[in-house]
Amino acid sequence: MKADIERWRNRVEAVLDAALPSENTEPKRLHQAMRYSTLGGGKRIRACLVYASGALFNAPEEALDAAAAAVEMTHAYSLIHDDLPAMDNDDVRRGKPTLHIAFDEATAILAGDALQTQAYLSLTQAEASDAVRIATLRCLAEASGASGMCGGQQMDMDATNQVLSLKALEALHALKTGALIRASVRMGALIGNANADELARLDQFANMLGLSFQIRDDILDIEASSEQLGKTAGKDIEQNKSTYPRLLGMNEAKKLLDAHAEQMQASLSSLKRDTSALSYIAAYAANRSQ
Ligand code: IPE
Ligand code: IPE
Ligand code: MG
Ligand code: MG
Ligand code: MG
Repeated sequence: MKADIERWRNRVEAVLDAALPSENTEPKRLHQAMRYSTLGGGKRIRACLVYASGALFNAPEEALDAAAAAVEMTHAYSLIHDDLPAMDNDDVRRGKPTLHIAFDEATAILAGDALQTQAYLSLTQAEASDAVRIATLRCLAEASGASGMCGGQQMDMDATNQVLSLKALEALHALKTGALIRASVRMGALIGNANADELARLDQFANMLGLSFQIRDDILDIEASSEQLGKTAGKDIEQNKSTYPRLLGMNEAKKLLDAHAEQMQASLSSLKRDTSALSYIAAYAANRSQ
């Protein structure tokens, strides 16, 4: 299983490298910035989810490449903007200076914008039928915009210095982080021509996974070191962010994570397919140390 994950990580790196504009063409600064923030870092969990979910339905990896790259471009753009002074004001990302520090704010805004549109361009070029291409385009658009990641980021900004109810925090996490994770799983399944029942079961799994991923991110912000994370630890408390450990306390947050892990495995079992890769990624998301 680990070998598959490693292979998928290397594979998406090569697909991204080929899809992103060259550093030798103008405007070089923008192209350099897009490549700086997208290549050579990150856990690639979203790309791995596309491949693992597609593999459930025997989708060829060539058919999954565009979606895997598209979701990582979207994610990279979301991180560039998340780190800007107007949002989380972070100096370090993936173990190196954030884009607005290494380049400048205007370039960071533009590189984020360009990565976002490049993601959709990649999806239009996917090796798939028109119907599948439209379905994946729609899936990523819904997950990224006002009803997904951007909506969640707005809720996150609005919730700063506020105490949310558990329900409101769950809704926030489901959008800001959950939406792209759900889209990753769903795009793989759409490319594999999964049926409606399979899509619904996977969605249930991915909902829990997205939530777990962000709860773990919140826990690591408190328990891990900056070196371990490749980003500045302790920022959530410093900025008075709404997080699970803050709302529930560390022990309860960890208990919730364990309960979600069980629910994820139950959703996967109900699929009656070889879900070992998704199961491995789920366990990793909930227990990871970086
Ligand atoms: C960080 O995502 C932002 C969140 C949504 C929690 P990742 O932890 O997946 O970041 P990379 O891609 O590995 O850097
Ligand atoms: C960011 O969440 C989620 C995004 C949509 C980028 P965080 O703000 O918690 O992510 P980190 O901790 O900076 O990676
Ligand atoms: Mg943030
Ligand atoms: Mg942040
Ligand atoms: Mg965080």
